[in-house]
Amino acid sequence: MAKAARSDAFAAAGAGDLGYTISVCTDEAAQDRALAADVSAGLGSMPKDIPPKWFYDDEGSRLFGEITRLSEYYLTRREHEILRRVAPEIATLSGAGTLVELGSGFSDKTRLLLDAMATAGTLEAFVPFDVNETALRATAAGAAAAYPGVATHGVVGEFGADLPSVPSEGRRLVALLGGTIGNFSGPERRKFLAEIAGMSSAGETFLLGADLVKQRSRLLAAYDDAAGITAAFNRNVLRVINRRLDADFEPLRFSHVATYDDERQRVEMWLRSEGAQVVHVRRLGLRASFADGEAMRTEISAKFRPAQILEELATAGFAVLAQWLDGAGDFSLTLAQRANGSRP
Ligand code: AVJ
Repeated sequence: MAKAARSDAFAAAGAGDLGYTISVCTDEAAQDRALAADVSAGLGSMPKDIPPKWFYDDEGSRLFGEITRLSEYYLTRREHEILRRVAPEIATLSGAGTLVELGSGFSDKTRLLLDAMATAGTLEAFVPFDVNETALRATAAGAAAAYPGVATHGVVGEFGADLPSVPSEGRRLVALLGGTIGNFSGPERRKFLAEIAGMSSAGETFLLGADLVKQRSRLLAAYDDAAGITAAFNRNVLRVINRRLDADFEPLRFSHVATYDDERQRVEMWLRSEGAQVVHVRRLGLRASFADGEAMRTEISAKFRPAQILEELATAGFAVLAQWLDGAGDFSLTLAQRANGSRP
């Protein structure tokens, strides 16, 4: 698919340049086509399977924000704890002038990194990259206001297709935080990590946040909280499909299920059909039957051993500079460098 990035620079009338630009690589129409392809493949497979990236419409992004504040969801707090401790070290080791944040929110963790780079005297540019245009614009505006001298260039795009649109000026630190890497299966991870290595020049660095294998009960609680926020987040994907593809899922006729597969080291989220039902996806001219109790997978969230992360990064062509865990050993941050590669 040919795509031309739509770019715009913002200037507020009378207030001068607001100091950020946005490139849009993927718009609503492109996302509708991608969702249509995923849903038609996903409802036709066994088990039924919808990729997790479709959780994040405005409501899904809001619900995810709520998840990060749940007592059971330790990931965000643990990562933050590590960053608070080591952001200055990351800034020094990376020597980067540009922070590229893949799947960015404009959260405290982003600020910890930007502040550390500013303190190190290296910060020149911030490139948030996200699939949700609303979230991306808020992030870019927030960053431009907080860091007036810093060039902020947001990119609305998808990991799969749009990494080549990430600007290449300056020495970059690419960050993939929050455990997002867990959404990729083993083969997808290999491909994605190699792609990030491929877009990096010699000396540029990559910061990876990854959740660690731990007691099954804690993992399951993190994905099945008592307040039911994760259940609402899970069902929200059905609302997204209803709205964008004119489907008639009844979200409350599906129950939220989280499982942990020990062997594959991953949490999975499912929606289980309560009763037999038929769903119509009118924009696709498609009907899908669910048997009573049939479960459709909506997310995988892989968990890692620290040494495994080092191995996977090495395989992708990175030299690992440092790895840090939080005090409880729940979560990891790993900083790696593109040793002697060059951009393809
Ligand atoms: C945003 C992919 C890191 O896998 O923990 C949270 C998404 N799903 N609760 C995760 C999520 C259910 C989250 N990531």
